[in-house]
Amino acid sequence: MNSGSVPLNRVHLTGDELRHIGEAIASGALSGPGAQSAYCEAVIRRAVGAPWAAIVPSCTAALEMSAVLLDLAPGDEVVMPSFTFVSTAAAVVLRGAVPIFVDVDPVTLNICPEAAAAAVTARTRAIFAVHYAGVVADMDALARLARARGLALVEDAAQAYGSTRGGRPAGSFGTTACFSFHGTKNVTSGEGGALVVNDPALVERAGILRDRGTDRERFLRGQVNAYSWQDLGSSQIVSEITAAFLRAQLDHADAIRADRLSIWQGYAAALTEPARQGHFRIPAPPPETEHNGHIFFLMLPDARSRLSLGEHLARRGIVAAPQYVPLHSSPAGRRFGRPSGPMTVTDHAADCLLRLPLWVGLGGDQNRVIDGVLDWCAGRREAA
Ligand SMILES: Cc1ncc(COP(=O)(O)O)c(C=O)c1O
Repeated sequence: MNSGSVPLNRVHLTGDELRHIGEAIASGALSGPGAQSAYCEAVIRRAVGAPWAAIVPSCTAALEMSAVLLDLAPGDEVVMPSFTFVSTAAAVVLRGAVPIFVDVDPVTLNICPEAAAAAVTARTRAIFAVHYAGVVADMDALARLARARGLALVEDAAQAYGSTRGGRPAGSFGTTACFSFHGTKNVTSGEGGALVVNDPALVERAGILRDRGTDRERFLRGQVNAYSWQDLGSSQIVSEITAAFLRAQLDHADAIRADRLSIWQGYAAALTEPARQGHFRIPAPPPETEHNGHIFFLMLPDARSRLSLGEHLARRGIVAAPQYVPLHSSPAGRRFGRPSGPMTVTDHAADCLLRLPLWVGLGGDQNRVIDGVLDWCAGRREAA
């Protein structure tokens, strides 16, 4: 694409989608979980090194299932970053639990372990960590905290499929982990997600929860003659058509990650100098993390300069966008949750962060984006 507008995201097709969808249709078995789902789940289990994984309709569904698996109950507290998508909090609120919002680390924008520690009370049951921009949160510090205080640790790894920290994959650290395959994510089925369960004690119940509260998994394994209602549950099952699409994406996850990383690195190389000159900050993932190139953002010095750069790029047909409205200051966040400690970094990121277009196939349009940013910097220098 060399003219016209440059969107923020664009779904990348690997070319295998129609073939696998055709296989699913030809099999005549469209309800899940079938062969296509089983394929995806094996790939995810292998990638994460987890004992159990299920593809589910969304990361939101996986987060909701995690809240049930942890037996969250009214009045329980769950510590989480305020700088996250609504689903992280909404999932625990559905169980009557109270999200306790804490600030994020200024470098990674992931939950700050010290702020999390300060937020733990006698009512705290879990920490939900988010891997923002695919950069895995400080899971060592959070796991130490969780162990010391007897808490569960859940990974909201919506953005982190294919990322690692200290060589360990995102999704391998938590009691459970939740991935998103929404259309804005690196690997997608339009809508979609996965629940990974790392605690073997929760595996059997996860299978029941996913399949309308029944032990149909046991039935399909030939362990019982008929299946029946066993526990809480819902239909968190994905059609084989959707699973077939996802399969085509998962098979190419490494290539997608490599392409996105090279675009990410292209931005970093071109924008290091203006960052050094103080126009903005660029991401600086810690050396122990290997991210998946999900997001490249600029952190402007103030809200006015973000607006100015955003408008400058929009005039050139380039879509650049902020990230989250912090949960501690959103209407439902105020109603259902509570902040703990200052929110300085979260509020600053909400006002000043601008994401740049990043998708496989961006190609020469990346230079249009970079030129737009550099041109804006030059204009600021002249005005100063
Ligand atoms: C951090 C985080 N959590 C959860 C979600 C929800 O994912 P889904 O749309 O698959 O439910 C998102 C989606 O953007 C996200 O970024």
